[in-house]
Amino acid sequence: MARPKIALIGAGQIGGTLAHLAAIKELGDVVLFDIAEGIPQGKALDIAESGPAEGFDGSFKGTNDYADIAGADVCIVTAGVPRKPGMSRDDLLGINLKVMKSVGEGIKAHAPDAFVICITNPLDAMVWALQQYAGLPANKVVGMAGVLDSARFRHFLATEFNVSMRDVTAFVLGGHGDTMVPLARYSTVGGIPLPDLVEMGWTTQESLDAIIQRTRDGGAEIVGLLKTGSAFYAPATSAIEMAEAYLRDQKRLLPCAAYVDGALGLEGMYVGVPTIIGAGGIERVVDIKMNADEQAMFDKSVDAVKGLVDACKGIDPTLA
Ligand code: APR
Repeated sequence: MARPKIALIGAGQIGGTLAHLAAIKELGDVVLFDIAEGIPQGKALDIAESGPAEGFDGSFKGTNDYADIAGADVCIVTAGVPRKPGMSRDDLLGINLKVMKSVGEGIKAHAPDAFVICITNPLDAMVWALQQYAGLPANKVVGMAGVLDSARFRHFLATEFNVSMRDVTAFVLGGHGDTMVPLARYSTVGGIPLPDLVEMGWTTQESLDAIIQRTRDGGAEIVGLLKTGSAFYAPATSAIEMAEAYLRDQKRLLPCAAYVDGALGLEGMYVGVPTIIGAGGIERVVDIKMNADEQAMFDKSVDAVKGLVDACKGIDPTLA
């Protein structure tokens, strides 16, 4: 059987890391697309040349021509600009919305059957716009945010409890911004929910609150350290986890920015929710129940996403 084809739209820091991870995991043949000439070609060749030492097969092509993504099974979109210190993700909206238009049109023309994973920020608004520009079914267009935010939460929790991160599960829902909702009640260490661990005296509420805030600020913490761009290793790894769930029909339950219409009291919008990803794309949105406090945080986050979507509509009235 032919290897799956993975098109990476944007060959910057995240795009290059995605290509390397896809190679090492032998997920398929990779096409790296970018408007910058030479960058995708150089990265593709460099990664191909790592194959003999690492021991993977696959073809790697860099291109500036959308025709080369033809027939892609998965498209991962990182095209756009990342933030600089002092910027919020929302500050990127105007410039990255224009990028989503050209990317959406490229996917529509050349890879209309792909499962599309958007990483470009501000994530929830960009994935919403990308789905419209590409005209693909909503279950085939999804945003990567919750897997990354949950991974950051899990890392901080594993460090706090001094346990393997493999034994820590965590849920972060809502928009991928300052209002994101790390859900302590649905996050566990070895199956024990975080509030129970506070009661047991393994940690304090203050420590837990500080971890939750650090999770919310996780992207800004990296931007502050790097100064020249934003995080790329963990975002790329998170998107690859989602791509693998689709390509291998793993039915993973992962928090993603998905189109929700009906579940969690939402009507027709993209926001971070628990989803199941398999060969059908987003196969299910898991309609979890929240208590009053959690619901209030979630509602606030949903409102923030709606504000960004309205700003997009103000810039491009063709978006509905
Ligand atoms: N079409 C294709 N590629 C584009 C376009 C476009 N219209 N506009 C910009 N690009 C390319 C740039 O040439 C660059 O190579 O997108 C790439 C972005 O790479 P980086 O600047 O290194 O940014 P990166 O760290 O990869 O982040 C990309 O993901 O997490 C988000 O906030 C982040 O929105 C940003 C995106």
